[in-house]
Order: sequence, then structure tokens, then C-alpha cells
Amino acid sequence: MIATRGNRPSSFIVDGGHALEGTIAVGGAKNSVLKILAASVLYEKPLTITNVPLIEDVFRMIELLEHAGATVERVGEHEFRIDASGIRNHELHPEIAKCFRGSIVLVAPLLVRLGRVTFPHPGGCVIGARPIDLFLKGWISMGARVTKGPEEYDISLTAPRGTEYMFRHISVTGTEALMLTAVVAHGTTILMNAACEPEIPHLAEFLNQSGARIEGAGTHTIKITGTGGTLLQPPAPFSVLPDRIEAASFLLLGAALGKNITITDCVPDHVRSLIEVLREAGVSVHIAGTSMVVRKPKMLRSISVRTHEYPGFVTDFQAPFAVLMTQAHGQSTIFETIFDGRFHYIEDLNRMGAHITIHNPHRIAVEGPTALRGREIESPDLRAGLGFVLAALIADGRSTINTIYFIDRGYECIDARLRSLGAFIERV
Ligand code: EPU
Repeated sequence: MIATRGNRPSSFIVDGGHALEGTIAVGGAKNSVLKILAASVLYEKPLTITNVPLIEDVFRMIELLEHAGATVERVGEHEFRIDASGIRNHELHPEIAKCFRGSIVLVAPLLVRLGRVTFPHPGGCVIGARPIDLFLKGWISMGARVTKGPEEYDISLTAPRGTEYMFRHISVTGTEALMLTAVVAHGTTILMNAACEPEIPHLAEFLNQSGARIEGAGTHTIKITGTGGTLLQPPAPFSVLPDRIEAASFLLLGAALGKNITITDCVPDHVRSLIEVLREAGVSVHIAGTSMVVRKPKMLRSISVRTHEYPGFVTDFQAPFAVLMTQAHGQSTIFETIFDGRFHYIEDLNRMGAHITIHNPHRIAVEGPTALRGREIESPDLRAGLGFVLAALIADGRSTINTIYFIDRGYECIDARLRSLGAFIERV
């Protein structure tokens, strides 16, 4: 079992009000690596994944894989070798699966390998209703039988068959899960109204390098020609794409506090929607290949946004963006269209001095600029937790951020990396 960091001390002490300067590199994408790790079950021979971020959700996925019978070995700083030849356990470890939403994606390749999977409702950040009806309907249309007990789902699917499936609405993990089942199905699958997030064509690229036949990933219509039951052949070591949400978090940090912050190892195109919004707000963002340079403007203007599926303004940027808007001149409205419970952080932010009104579960108005004051806060979820780190770095005085497991779920050693930019942040 990989040693996890879950038992580490669990608060950040942050002394705010200091400008940040320097270079920060973006790591591999959480929402990509989780799906690639899950996909490793489709291989009987070992494969190697590089640029794997050392984050809690990755450790949890590795624990799930090991519980299912795979062997996972860390062979380099950010490099893992997975051998799924021993997969035999059809029960997803319930306590671990409940920790993170990405666990549902593992159901897909396990179904292919074992013909049956039992699993609890997947957990993850509490950001609104997160049903799995779209997954279940998809698997049923491929021939699955689904039984729902009080504690778990039990799905049987032998020899999945190709299908034409229209997502009632767009789902990222739903698209990925059905893709993973369809690649080895009998016949052709067409996924309509599929998600287009960059992690999806990246997963398709990984699978296609292994003998899968996926066309159209990155568009709303994906065609998958199944292998008819044949498992995949490992590609050359595959590097996980840079985390666009981490890149965006660093852009927002630079816009709030940067003298000059250089963000390296990223794909600027993946955060285009945020760059455009920041530029309209008066922030200078300079792009050079896989790097971006960002700095705090003399005067930050307020700007309203509406979250949207990719390539629109990403829901995961919403909380740290609201924090930035507390420093902007004027009122900005933020309309959250994807999730209905993603404003849990507002009350604490207002206690720090922000003036934010919640109009309804989908809309807030931020009045700025307001001075923020350090205080003790609980991290409510991953992205809001990062928003609180940003708020604490902006605030006058000392803040204590508790329950930072949520932040460690998606950001590798964020404290040490921020210290390298001159931030005063300690893990206690
Ligand atoms: N939905 C359904 N039924 C389903 C599935 C989804 O109604 O069966 C609804 C959801 O309730 C939501 C909407 O569809 O209102 C979109 O949800 P989606 O399924 O796209 O989200 P997800 O796949 O659960 C992934 C990321 C999230 C990210 C969203 C949106 C992973 C593991 N998670 O979640 O990332 O916010 O897409 O882009 O890939 C994060 O990294 O902090 C995070 C929450």
C-alpha cells in the first residue's frame, strides 16, 4: 500500500498581505490522472504513467486499484508502474470510494474485466447534488443489469455491446466512464452531447496509443469502435497533461498578489476563458509557449462571469475568482450554472471582510474592493479551500485554515510551492 499523507497535521497558518514573486510549475492534472489510473485496469500487462501529481485523490485511487488486485509501484519522483494482471475483486472498497467522485470511473474498466462491480455512491466535494443516473443509463444501454441496495449499487455487465447514447446533460466523468467501457465493447458506440474538457481527448489519446479506436474526443460527439473484448496493449510511458485548474489558481494568485509570477509547464489554451476575463479586469497575462507571466494590476476592475462547460468559464475557478473579485473596483456577479451547492465558502469570506450577497444557490454579487482580515476558517472543499488560501494571502494578519486534507486532495505540497514565491504559509 502506498503511504498516504492523510495522517499529517492538518492546518495552514498564513500571514497575509505580502506580494509574491518568482516561478511556479504546474503539475499533472488531477482530473486526468485519476481516469488514466482507472483505465490501467483495461491492460493485462504493466504500464507506466509519468507526471503523476502526489495528491491525496491519487493515493486514494491507487488504494482502490490495489484493493481490486492491481500492483502499483512508484518508480520515479512522479512516475508509477501499474500491473493490473491480478485484478479479481469486484467490490470497490466502500470507505475509499466514498472519499472522491473520481472513484466511479473505476467501475467502468472493472465491469469490463470482471463482468460485475459493487460500489457505494461516490463521494467527493460537497458542491451540490452529484447523481450517477447518466452513468447507470449508459451502462444499461450497453446491456448492464443494475441493482440498487441501501448501501451500494451492484452492476452486472458481460460482453458490453456498442450503443448510441445521448447524455441528457453534459457530464465529464460520465463521458469518461462510458468511453472506458465502450473501448472494449462489441460494436460501435456513439456518445452524443459528450463533455469536451481537455482531459477527455487526453484520455482518448492514451487509449488510442494502446489499440483503442476513438474518434471525435474533444467534441460533443465521440465514436468508439470497440475491440470486441480484447484488452489493450500498454503504450510507451504516458505523461499526464498539465493541470489547468492549478494553472488557473496560480493566475488568480498572480492577479491578486503578483509582482511578477511566471507559471511554467502549462497549456495556456486550456485556461483561455480565465485569461480573457482577467485581461478585461485589467490584469496583464503574457503567454510564451508553455509559460505565462502574470502580475497584479494597479487597479483591478470588477467583471461578471457565468460558469460553463469547457471551453467556457470553468466552475472549478469560481471560488478563487470570487476571492479575487473582493479586491476589484465595482460589483461583479457570479452565476454558477454547473453545481447547485458551490457557495458554501461565502459566509467565511464575508467574516474575513468581503461583501458578498448570495441571491440564490446559483448567483452571488461581490462588492469590491474590500480589505480582508485574517481569521480561522475551515476549508469546505478542494477549490474553495484554495480560494481560502488566496484570501488568507491577501488578508491583513494571520489566518488559520483547517481541514486542509481537502486542499491536499488536489494540490501537491501547495504550502512549499507558495513559500518559494515568498508566501508566509506553514503546515502545522
Ligand atoms: N450530473 C447528473 N447526473 C450524472 C452525472 C452528473 O445530473 O449522472 C450533473 C451533476 O450533478 C452536475 C453536472 O451534471 O450538475 C455536471 O457534472 P459532471 O458529471 O460533469 O461533474 P463530475 O464529472 O462529477 C468533474 C470534475 C469536477 C468538475 C466537473 C465539472 C472529476 C473527478 N471531477 O466532475 O472537478 O468540477 O467535472 O467540470 O473529474 C474538482 O476537481 O474540484 C472537481 C469538482
